[in-house]
Amino acid sequence: MLSQTNVRLARNEDIASIIELDPIARQDPGRRTFIANAVAAGQCWAATEAQEASALIGYGVLNKSFFEHDFIPLVMVKDSARRRGVATAIMRALELQCQGGKLFTSTNTSNFAMRGLLVQLGFIESGQIENLDDQDPELVFVKRRAS
Ligand SMILES: CC(C)(COP(=O)(O)OP(=O)(O)OC[C@H]1O[C@@H](n2cnc3c(N)ncnc32)[C@H](O)[C@@H]1OP(=O)(O)O)[C@@H](O)C(=O)NCCC(=O)NCCS
Repeated sequence: MLSQTNVRLARNEDIASIIELDPIARQDPGRRTFIANAVAAGQCWAATEAQEASALIGYGVLNKSFFEHDFIPLVMVKDSARRRGVATAIMRALELQCQGGKLFTSTNTSNFAMRGLLVQLGFIESGQIENLDDQDPELVFVKRRAS
């Protein structure tokens, strides 16, 4: 299934499609600013159908916002494209961009889909942060890369 997904650096002209597939971005100006800044900084990667390069089905961001380590603050797959390896393809593409020995990410405790994805990709838990979302601690994950 992974062969059906291409992942490439997002461009300015992708921003509208990224917002369209992200229900939070459709409502939250802060998320839209985050996306625009990530695209401008070359930190946003877009997944497309291999057969239809213009059809965006997901995106992911890789930056250094976590104690200056490689960090994935967000990966999002269009509802209708889920559970067919798109996030796996995005995560693997982001991992390939990393220079450092450790790649961090985080997710809410309640996000079983993301937690399942991370475990499948070889991430391990690396602590948790309370008081971001009430009653739903943020779990930090890390993947150590082969040196
Ligand atoms: C989490 C998310 C990115 C997964 O995307 P996806 O493209 O469906 O993931 P994949 O198809 O690559 O799934 C790989 C593995 O992750 C796990 N997984 C994915 N979705 C799951 C779900 N709904 N329930 C349980 N496990 C799940 C499974 O182990 C899956 O392997 P399998 O299908 O062989 O069982 C997607 O559900 C999403 O966009 N959610 C909303 C945004 C979000 O929560 N992002 C994460 C925090 S930033």
